[in-house]
Amino acid sequence: MAFIRFFHVLGAIMFFGSVLDHVAVSQIPGLLEDARTLLVGRQFIGVSADYVTMPGLVLLLVTGPIMVIARRPSILKVRWLGVHMLIAVLITLNVVLVMYPVGQDILDLVARGLADGQSLEQILGSIKDLADQEATFGPLSVLCTVVTIFIAVIKPRFGRVAEA
Ligand code: HEM
Repeated sequence: MAFIRFFHVLGAIMFFGSVLDHVAVSQIPGLLEDARTLLVGRQFIGVSADYVTMPGLVLLLVTGPIMVIARRPSILKVRWLGVHMLIAVLITLNVVLVMYPVGQDILDLVARGLADGQSLEQILGSIKDLADQEATFGPLSVLCTVVTIFIAVIKPRFGRVAEA
């Protein structure tokens, strides 16, 4: 089981590390002042999402249930695990339904805008709504991930005397 746990932690490192990288890239000075720099930044986020973030999430979603099935803990007693899993589901929905598709759409719009010779203002205008969604749901993803990792490591009792 330590082997599975290793891959769960590896998945958490890949997932959370790459999400923080996306935040860092979006803070590059001048990113919103030059369309080509914007494209490279969004390409980095796209490649990182495909090769690090999503594989990390898949690792988490494969290894997590294996550990749960192997131990068969009572979710009612092991409350931290129930909360950990619930938040993990919210993170997954946020990534799969919002963050990943929005990131892809922004990359497509920036690439197409540049190819069509649009001005920087036009490109920024075309991605504004999507960028607003990213600015809302991105921090939510970071916050939920910090909370669920905290819960899994600290294993708070939430009012009951029980541990996994
Ligand atoms: C975004 C999703 C998730 C993240 C970031 C995450 C992260 C973590 C972390 C950091 C640990 C602590 C490991 C340790 O202390 O050794 C952990 C433990 C655990 N996670 Fe997750 N996890 C996620 C999703 C899931 C899911 C979906 C399940 C089950 C369906 C799950 C089940 C477990 C279990 C059973 C443990 C206990 C491991 C132990 O104490 O040996 N996790 N998780």
